[in-house]
Amino acid sequence: MKTKTKNNLKFPKDFLWGTATSAYQIEGNNSNSDWWRWEEKGKTKEKSGRACDYWHKFKEDHNLLEELGVNSYRLSLEWASIEPAENCFSRENLDYYRKILKDLKSRKIKTVVTLWHWTSPLWFADKYGFHHKKSSEIFSRYCQKVRDELGDWIDIYVVFNEPMVPLGMGYLGGAFPPGYKNPFKFYRALSNIARAYIKVYEIIHQKYPQSQVGISYLYNWYEEKGFGPVGLLNKISQWFRIDLLGNKIKDHQDYIGIDYYRIGRMKFNRRRIKLDAKNQNYFGFTVEEDKKNVMKWITYPEGIYKVLKEAQEKYKLPIYILENGLPTNIGLDDWQRIDFIESHLKFVKKALSEGVDVKGYFHWSLLDNYEWLYGYGPRFGLVEMNYKTLERKPRKSFYAYKKMISENSNLSASESIMHTK
Ligand code: BGC
Repeated sequence: MKTKTKNNLKFPKDFLWGTATSAYQIEGNNSNSDWWRWEEKGKTKEKSGRACDYWHKFKEDHNLLEELGVNSYRLSLEWASIEPAENCFSRENLDYYRKILKDLKSRKIKTVVTLWHWTSPLWFADKYGFHHKKSSEIFSRYCQKVRDELGDWIDIYVVFNEPMVPLGMGYLGGAFPPGYKNPFKFYRALSNIARAYIKVYEIIHQKYPQSQVGISYLYNWYEEKGFGPVGLLNKISQWFRIDLLGNKIKDHQDYIGIDYYRIGRMKFNRRRIKLDAKNQNYFGFTVEEDKKNVMKWITYPEGIYKVLKEAQEKYKLPIYILENGLPTNIGLDDWQRIDFIESHLKFVKKALSEGVDVKGYFHWSLLDNYEWLYGYGPRFGLVEMNYKTLERKPRKSFYAYKKMISENSNLSASESIMHTK
């Protein structure tokens, strides 16, 4: 039996409890997007196909959200569905997204909407891409359309999800679309994303001055351990992931969105001298790994506290934890996930009690889903997906998280759920 920590930590009354997903990873059949073509080219372990078919099964999944007792849900919109051809917006798909958002609102679930979660329409990828000078204008036109058509049903906007990941992987590492290894294009794309973001921030506020607009950062903890090249590299990683873009947009954020998963500790490995971004090898520099973890990530609950403190100090803004989760390959008895959530929430609470303005926690993810380059192997869901039958089965972590939420939040929730190691 796992050891449990007993405490009665309470979260603020208006704290947002949620789960997070993204369109491409759950909707299925987004064949008009650049990632689809990336899959067709054999660049991923598996193809996404119909994924979880959320597009048709959203009501079933919203029932699960209701049962879970969350008061908010983070989802994303697929740009390629909304604007399938350049400057041609799909009335049908906009109406369909409105139906999805209205369904959430009718259940008193706040909507946190990501406008770009790594996928772009094929026409945009072919003719422009974010390295093109017109990209900020084109992207903000799509966002303006979303604001006008769907804005009444959106509570919080996440304009870009972790943009430094696809920028790094797609423009330097060559492992994500568009597949470049080109620092000049990288820098142009970075500047255009910053420009696009600021435009969108203003566009949304023109119509909805009260709405909250920001981005999510992949804000893992980089230990600045040691001197010399490795210590320096840890510092560089942190700067690359957070400050490089963060400094460009810092006066245009209503909150800081944090996606926290693990500790990223750099080390030097002379056997991995090649650039292989997919496996996190950067000319011999690589990240320490936990072989027992499905994605080889090192879980480090205290890191979420460190990240929250650092972000608060740096930006002095409200903070949403927009993603936090654990990849597994097990079935319904996922005690590891229960431990993961509990231990991270304990550190979130510690940060709160020291005055960090944390406004919400969104667990990644509601459902097992398409994990990009890694296909369907890693499972992040509170709910297990049977990809053959599309049957959804809540795991033990689903009931544990439900209990944590309902007790707002008694972190010893899993004590009532029997699980053995
Ligand atoms: C991304 C998700 C992804 C998750 C787990 C996040 O960085 O936003 O799309 O599934 O990590 O790897």
